Amino acid sequence: MSTISLFEAMNTLRSMRRLKPDPIPLELLRTVLDAGTKAPSGQNTQPWAFVVVQNPQEKQFLQEHYYSGMIRRFGLVRPAPEDRSQQAKITRAALHLAEHLHEVPVLLLVCGKRDWPAVVPKHERVGLAPPSYGSIYPCVQNILLACRGLGLGATLTTMHQFFQEELHERFGIPKEYGVVVMIPIGFPEGKFGPVSRKPAAQVTHFDHWGQQALPEPSAGVKHEA
Ligand SMILES: Cc1cc2nc3c(=O)[nH]c(=O)nc-3n(C[C@H](O)[C@H](O)[C@H](O)COP(=O)(O)O)c2cc1C
Repeated sequence: MSTISLFEAMNTLRSMRRLKPDPIPLELLRTVLDAGTKAPSGQNTQPWAFVVVQNPQEKQFLQEHYYSGMIRRFGLVRPAPEDRSQQAKITRAALHLAEHLHEVPVLLLVCGKRDWPAVVPKHERVGLAPPSYGSIYPCVQNILLACRGLGLGATLTTMHQFFQEELHERFGIPKEYGVVVMIPIGFPEGKFGPVSRKPAAQVTHFDHWGQQALPEPSAGVKHEA
């Protein structure tokens, strides 16, 4: 079980796209899925459902469709070996994952029940509602954190959006659900490291957009005595 703190997990929750083919013990998988189901959701509807894909043929299907969807959409070109830029590293890793997806022990489809957001007026509700993304992403983040805590590598991916129909048909997913993300999970080949993000101070505004300096203590929120 995990020995790292919650903050260490958040600070080192990088996408791990180079994964070993070694199987994931069922006990760990259960812990990961259990963590997902502890997430909050609108009105506690818990609209998630998981499809754990481990069958080699099914993984092959996902790899082929994922890879061709990604290439069709982004036309990714392998960066030159001497290119050490951040973007080149991400592209190389994303291509590696797409090419080796079928070797990853678990491909987890996180599905979300479809539900119109309350803000969409009734007369505009035409066709299938989108999956309730807002109630699925906390579950996804819990899954990613649980993986990190257990030393499992994972990446949030969305390339399956390019073959939703085939996905539904192949895995018998009811139309009341949409597949929100696919998370390849396995033991990482490399080491976990710190995430690279803008500092919070750069994206934080106090009381009014544009006021980015931390207010003087005396000028802060007034508290009633
Ligand atoms: C909504 C969303 C969609 C993403 N889709 C993909 C994807 O399809 N394939 C992939 O390799 N990574 C995907 N990612 C992972 C991001 O590329 C990654 O989180 C980001 O570049 C930051 O890198 P890091 O997680 O290693 O810190 C996605 C992340 C999010 C939040």
